[in-house]
Amino acid sequence: MSAVKETFGNPFSSQFMRMRQAGPFHLVIFGASGDLTQRKLIPALFNLFLDGYAADQFSIVGFARREKSDEQFRAEMGASVRQYSRRQPESEEQLQQFLAHLHYVSGSFENEAGYYHLKDRLKALCLSYQMPSNALFYLATPPDAFPDIIRNLHRGGLVSPVFDVDGWTRIVVEKPFGRDTATAWELNGTIHAAFRERQVYRIDHYLGKETVQNILVFRLGNSIFEPLWNRRYIDHVQITVAESLGVGSRAGYFEQAGIIRDMIQSHILQVFTLIAMEPPATFDATAIRDEKVKVLKSLHLPSPEQVPFQVVRGQYSPGSLGGEPVPGYLQEAGIAPNSSTETYVALKLTIDNWRWSGVPFYIRTGKRLPKRVTDVAIVFKEPPHMIFDEAGRGSRHTNLLRLRLQPQEGISLSFGAKAPGPTVKVAPVHMDFMYASSFGASSTEAYERLILDALTGDSTLFAREDEVELSWSLVDRIVANWQSTKLHSYSAGGWGPEAADDLLKRDARDWLRL
Ligand code: BG6
Repeated sequence: MSAVKETFGNPFSSQFMRMRQAGPFHLVIFGASGDLTQRKLIPALFNLFLDGYAADQFSIVGFARREKSDEQFRAEMGASVRQYSRRQPESEEQLQQFLAHLHYVSGSFENEAGYYHLKDRLKALCLSYQMPSNALFYLATPPDAFPDIIRNLHRGGLVSPVFDVDGWTRIVVEKPFGRDTATAWELNGTIHAAFRERQVYRIDHYLGKETVQNILVFRLGNSIFEPLWNRRYIDHVQITVAESLGVGSRAGYFEQAGIIRDMIQSHILQVFTLIAMEPPATFDATAIRDEKVKVLKSLHLPSPEQVPFQVVRGQYSPGSLGGEPVPGYLQEAGIAPNSSTETYVALKLTIDNWRWSGVPFYIRTGKRLPKRVTDVAIVFKEPPHMIFDEAGRGSRHTNLLRLRLQPQEGISLSFGAKAPGPTVKVAPVHMDFMYASSFGASSTEAYERLILDALTGDSTLFAREDEVELSWSLVDRIVANWQSTKLHSYSAGGWGPEAADDLLKRDARDWLRL
C-alpha cells in the first residue's frame, strides 16, 4: 500500500473534508491519560470514524506512564466519547467497533525501554491490520516532556525512514511551543535532529475553527473587500478574545505562562496574521505560511520605552459573573498569594509596511471578562468630506465590519443610513450573515479538522518553525519590559482595567461594545 500524498487540494473548499480519507495510520498519543486526550482528541477521532474519514486499517495507541491494559484504556476512552463527543454513538456496538482500534502501551517518557515496546507493538499492529507503518505521533503532554519523547522516538528507531521502508512518520506538537524565542529555537532544534520540517505539525486549534479559516476565504475569495483592506480605508482594527472562565484547574501552567504566552503568542497572533497578511500567490502550505511570516517580520516591535504605553496588563480581582460572586486570581487554588501573573493584556500593534502603515491593531484578551467572545472589528475611516453636521452624524464606528469568530459565528457590516424623520440624521444599520442560518450549525470541531489534516499530510493550518519563533520575538520584547508595565487590577466580570480604555482614548478611539 502506498503512503498518502503530502499535499491535497484547496483545504477550504466545502467538499474537502468529505473527499478525504486518512488512509491507513497509527496515531500514537503521548499523554494518553491527560485532559486533552479525553476531552478533545478521542472525541475528535470518534467523529472522524463516524464520518468514514478513517479507513478500516488504523490504530490509536495511547502511551503514558500508568500501567493499564488495552481493555482499561478502551473503557476510559469510551467514557470520554460518551461525555465529550459532539455526537453520541448510535449503538453500543458502533462504539465498540471504534474502541477496538484503541491500544495502550505504558512507559515513561524519559526511558528508552517504553519506546522499544511501542515499536514492537506498532509492528504487531502493522501485521494484524495488514498496513504500512504510517505513524503520527501526537505530543499531548506537558511541554517539559517534549524533548525526551522526541529524542527517544529517534533513538528507538521509530522515525522513518528508520522505522520502516514504506510508511510515513509525522509529529504533532501541542502548544505552548517554548516559552520564549530561545526555548522555541531550542525545541525546533531538538525536533529537527529527528524530523524534517515537513513532518512537523505545530498545532494551534484556532486554525481549525471554521470562522478563522473563513477569514482568508472572506478576504481572498471575494472582490468586494480586498480593495478596501489597507491604510487608505481602514482606520484601525480591534481583535478581542474574551473569556468568562477563570484559571480553573490549570493554575500550575497558567502561573508560568500568563495570558500573553497562553493566548497572544499563539491564537491571537494567528488571527492577526490572517487579517494582515498579503494575498498568497497560490493556496498551499508554503505560499500561505510565507505570507504569514512576512507580516510577522513587518510587525513593529515596541521599544522598551514604548512598551508601558502600548501594553496594558491586568489581573482579575474578586467580582461577579452572571450574578454569582467569583474569586479573584490570587484567591484561586494553586495561585501564589503574591502572584503577578497577568490574566488580561491589551496592546497596540503597528505594522511597518505599505498596506498597514499608520493603522493600529488593538488587541485585548482576558480571563473572567463578562462573556466568551472572539471578535475582529475592522473600523473604516470616516468619509473624507462630511456634509452632515456633527449632530446628524453617526458614531465613530458607523462603517464597521465585524468578523464574529465565536460564538454566534458570522459577519456583520454596519454603515450609515438616514434615520427616518424631518432632519438628516445618520444612524448605523447592520447587515448580518450568521453561519447557523446560512449553513446550519458547524459540523466539525477544530481538532477533527486538524487531526485529519495531519493524517493526510496537509500542513497549511499548522505553524511553521519561523512563524513560531517570530511570534515569540514580540512576546519576548513585551515580557522583558514587564517590570516597567504596571499590573492593573480589574474586577472579575468587568471588561478589564481602565488603563485599557485609556490606551485607545489616547488615540481618540474606543473599544467596541461586544
Ligand atoms: C487554550 C488556552 O489554548 O485556548 C486556554 O490554553 C483558553 O487558556 C483556550 O481558554 C480558548 O480556546 P477556545 O477554543 O475556547 O476559544
